[in-house]
Amino acid sequence: MQNRRASARDSLSRYAFENLTRRRWWRLLAKRSLYTVLRAAYPFDRWHCRVVRENCRYFDRVRALHGELRPDATVEVGSGLGEIVSGLESPILIGVDRDAAVIRAARLLRGRRVTFLHMSELERMESLLGQSASACLLFLNWFHVYRPEEVQRFAREYVRRTNATHVIFDVINEGPGGYRFRHTPEMLLDIGPIIAVRDAGDGIRRLVALRANHGNQSARLHDANE
Ligand SMILES: C[S@@+](CC[C@H](N)C(=O)[O-])C[C@H]1O[C@@H](n2cnc3c(N)ncnc32)[C@H](O)[C@@H]1O
Repeated sequence: MQNRRASARDSLSRYAFENLTRRRWWRLLAKRSLYTVLRAAYPFDRWHCRVVRENCRYFDRVRALHGELRPDATVEVGSGLGEIVSGLESPILIGVDRDAAVIRAARLLRGRRVTFLHMSELERMESLLGQSASACLLFLNWFHVYRPEEVQRFAREYVRRTNATHVIFDVINEGPGGYRFRHTPEMLLDIGPIIAVRDAGDGIRRLVALRANHGNQSARLHDANE
């Protein structure tokens, strides 16, 4: 028993020591502390203090999939503090959220590289996207709280207003508990064909990419890969 306790203590201190030498771990700690302080001034959801890019296990896969599309403009809807959108490469980066407090905090954090807009300010989004030949819309980690018909309504509305050429969203796998709705990759087929379905790397979700067919209601499943 004592031996087991001593070995648990050893591996715990080895784990703590290894963490101290990791820059990623320090960044995670610094961000969590900063966002907790920021939350006192801007009362956004506590979730944003816990999940940051350094421990968000789908960020790298989102970045890779988005990078393949190389859009002129990128709009993340439900962007929170901008941990995802601020890490993507695109000449125009826009974050939209329904929470006015998180949008104000994100503006303070990110400066001018990303334009953060509350969902009541979508005319500004339309004018920023005016000349973009290709725009990618991202919806990550919030569709699962809405019914399929609500998700379809949001997605259609944003595709229309951004004139998006591509959409990336996540669907929750069968298995992990605690999620209200598990949608299917085919849920937004009326917007356009699926061009990729990828494991998100967190054991919880898949990432789906669509090509948006404006005005074409007869979209077909196309080149889907698991
Ligand atoms: C769990 S956070 C995810 C943040 C970010 N997308 C990520 O993956 O790290 C969900 C965010 O979506 C926003 N949200 C939820 N429903 C929304 C809606 N209908 N329109 C815009 N934003 C929404 C919430 O306010 C919150 O900031």
